[in-house]
Amino acid sequence: MEQIEQGTSNISLDDYLKMSEEERQQLPKTRLKKLQRQAALAERKAARAAELAANAATEQRERLEEARQVRIELDSSLPKPLICKLRDIFASPEKFVDQRVCLAGWVHHWRMDGKRLAFLELRDGTGFMQCVLSNELCMTYDALTLCREASVRVWGTVRHDARAKGGLELHADFWELVAPSTPEIEMVLTHESNPDILLNNRHLVIRGRRTSTTLRLRSLITQCFREHYFQRGYVELAPPTIVNTMCEGGSTLFKLDYFGINAYLTQSSQMYLESGIPAVGDCFCVLPSYRAELSDTRRHLAEFHHIEAEMPFITFADLLDAIEDLVCDVIARVLAKAGDLVRDLNPELVVPRRPFRRLTYADAIAYCREHEIYKDEEQKIHFEYGDDIPERPERLMTDQIGEPIFLTHFPVSMKAFYMQPCTDQPDLTESVDLLMPGVGEIVGGSMRIWRYKQLMDAYAREQIDPKPYYWYTDQRKFGSCPHGGYGLGLERFCCYVLGVRHVREVCLYPRYRGRISP
Ligand code: 4AD
Repeated sequence: MEQIEQGTSNISLDDYLKMSEEERQQLPKTRLKKLQRQAALAERKAARAAELAANAATEQRERLEEARQVRIELDSSLPKPLICKLRDIFASPEKFVDQRVCLAGWVHHWRMDGKRLAFLELRDGTGFMQCVLSNELCMTYDALTLCREASVRVWGTVRHDARAKGGLELHADFWELVAPSTPEIEMVLTHESNPDILLNNRHLVIRGRRTSTTLRLRSLITQCFREHYFQRGYVELAPPTIVNTMCEGGSTLFKLDYFGINAYLTQSSQMYLESGIPAVGDCFCVLPSYRAELSDTRRHLAEFHHIEAEMPFITFADLLDAIEDLVCDVIARVLAKAGDLVRDLNPELVVPRRPFRRLTYADAIAYCREHEIYKDEEQKIHFEYGDDIPERPERLMTDQIGEPIFLTHFPVSMKAFYMQPCTDQPDLTESVDLLMPGVGEIVGGSMRIWRYKQLMDAYAREQIDPKPYYWYTDQRKFGSCPHGGYGLGLERFCCYVLGVRHVREVCLYPRYRGRISP
């Protein structure tokens, strides 16, 4: 008997409810009674819960019915509102405090505090502001059914409030729903959502405070690049991005069928910019470049924005100065325009100081060998001269040194065909990568081969058919000159300035292997 008792004591209420009546009758009497009592209690609880839910639903229906009767109206006796954006208000608060305004935007956050008070955090794409809604304003049908991300228009008076973010809030006197959202929004995005869900829903994620600020700052950074170039007399050119030549080696080319002809998405606009310097002198472009990158790292994209520049009649030293000037001047411009916002996102931003440290490729190999940075970490195999320094060891070195580094003079064998060999050491190139702590390489540049014969030899060495490059070669036939330039990855630069870890976080819709949507 004791054995049977033991055998049935672990039967749960769930198991019991699934049993047939006959099976139940097999159970020992005391066990059966206990389970019957538990089942009856559970039934009573479920009935009570259903009743409460039904009551709540009825109450909610009644509340909504009542709410339909609540009408709010725009009071035409109030002062005429200023129709403005939040950025206008925060730019000159003294002009707006105690002023009546009308704002339009999206419900970033919505909270009822009892029946007669509600807080609506409004986002209009230029800023955020808390709007206080009281009495009838938060008792309408639209108020009771309002969801995050609905679009609204709010009328009210701007007031000082030390507790509010930004020190201001809006005391609403009227509001209207422009278009509703749905409660689904709460399920799509939660703090626990994994990165893939967040990337699939990037069209909604970009509305968030951090991501929208990042996109806004990316726009400002791009603007600062343009201002830098225009201020220094460069001309912006717009080279094609569908091309029939390669610039940076065949392994990362995206091929496409261009009306029956083989074509590629450009890896770099450099060669077209070079062809533009006899026309306009110093020139630049801000365009996408494409790389069929198989490397799955936090700094590689399949499509990135490339800021490239080309300058005639310069030396290698001038090229390094120009890159240093670009990076320092753009960061200074960004901080002058939006220092607070940048520091909010990246309190640890280190503003680079000139001159940047210079390290030749040979120095870098020696540095790695001396500082236990290995080619093969597991087997402790050292780098040898001639080895490519991949991303991880390069970042280790940069982070150890802890300041921007110009890595120069790479061997000819490691670099693209167009790079100018050094006069005194023709096995090395006048080439440079700029490495930044935390990110790694953000700029690649070089002087370009400018003599006709030398370029023809380079095509031959790299087994490149010179035919499609006739226009590039022609530049060396018709008034060539020493010249050089560089390309800077905008996303990597943004990561440095904004303290963002992964390049995809500074893209509207990133493109990398495995992602084509949204
Ligand atoms: O060093 P790269 O390959 O140089 C060139 O393309 C030259 N033709 C540029 C020139 O001289 N005009 O690329 C330049 C920069 C890199 O330093 C990096 O910042 C960025 O472009 N870049 C990438 N960014 C994101 N994802 C990728 N897959 C990138 N590949 C290069």
